[in-house]
Amino acid sequence: MRIENNYSLEKYNTFHLPVKTRWFMEYGSEDDLQKILRDEYFQECVSVHIGKGSNLLFINDFNGIVLHSAIKGMEVVREDEGNVYLRVGAAEVWDDVVAHAVAKGWGGIENLSWIPGETGAAAVQNIGAYGMEIKDVIDSVEAWNQLTFEKHVFPVGDCGYAYRRSRFKDPGQDPHIVTYVTLRLSKHPVLKLEYGALRELSGQAGLSLRTVRNGIIDIRKDKLPDPDKLGNAGSFFMNPVIGKEHFDRIRSAYPDAPAYPMEDGRIKIPAGWLIEQCGFKGKRHGDVGVYEKQALVLVNYGNATGDEIALVAESIRMAVKERFGIELVPEVKYIA
Ligand code: EPU
Repeated sequence: MRIENNYSLEKYNTFHLPVKTRWFMEYGSEDDLQKILRDEYFQECVSVHIGKGSNLLFINDFNGIVLHSAIKGMEVVREDEGNVYLRVGAAEVWDDVVAHAVAKGWGGIENLSWIPGETGAAAVQNIGAYGMEIKDVIDSVEAWNQLTFEKHVFPVGDCGYAYRRSRFKDPGQDPHIVTYVTLRLSKHPVLKLEYGALRELSGQAGLSLRTVRNGIIDIRKDKLPDPDKLGNAGSFFMNPVIGKEHFDRIRSAYPDAPAYPMEDGRIKIPAGWLIEQCGFKGKRHGDVGVYEKQALVLVNYGNATGDEIALVAESIRMAVKERFGIELVPEVKYIA
């Protein structure tokens, strides 16, 4: 177990904010995690569990305990005619898992290539891109209840998954810490290329998991800023879902408004488009910017603070609310 005092989180948040935490604790096993959870000092302090910090906004220094998992490993725990079941430690870098699956010829997560972050956080967040969500391939999630100190294995149906939602981020549920995620990957992959930007790939001959992965990496590198070079946390807001009548009113004023119809008849509308319509795309306020190629991404040009990023986010939220009557909800988690 590693314990640090007054520790810089600059490497643990992809906005690269130079914030500090009073305590940083990294555990490498479930036994060590249990010890931490049962510790009285830990129970008295405020704490937050983080992955690689690719979806976090620290508003200021954190006066509590930041927990981080160092539980790694990828192991095939079961196999049948069609699938392998890969049990992955929460601290494995998600894209390493995708690269491993693709190299082995196992399908189901190739469209989720090049998403920053670790596997535990990916399962908490239900990451999604290009027509796939991690929930589509999750078999089960192993997690520790922070109140009862018991471990539960949640079959995917008990994880409360929906778009960017899960029971693990639902404040109405007991808090849990995810330690392992078991993925069900296909030995006979069927490529999924319906999503807009992938359609041009679908015409190519000799497509494979590897070429799809490479194609997606190219698309993401072209559209999204590399957090190692320009601080950002990917999509800042979730794409809102609105009723059909509300959408029809928007379409009558904006005939080109993009839309993804949902199974329940409602419409998901890209937040990036809404933000662009409000004139924010490519704009800069101090060191906070709205990325010029994707208005859904806020960037730190160098010396932005968490507060400044939150202020720009708030002015975006207000403008979208005023013009479209839509409340944007941050996908990024604020930590104060
Ligand atoms: N659009 C604009 N202006 C913009 C950005 C987007 O008009 O500045 C419109 C365009 O019509 C475009 C459409 O929005 O066709 C969709 O854009 P994009 O394909 O980039 O996807 P998105 O809906 O903005 C979502 C995810 C991304 C994921 C992509 C690809 C959310 C909040 N974001 O973005 O996830 O990579 O789809 O599947 O659902 C992330 O969560 O951090 C993330 C990057």
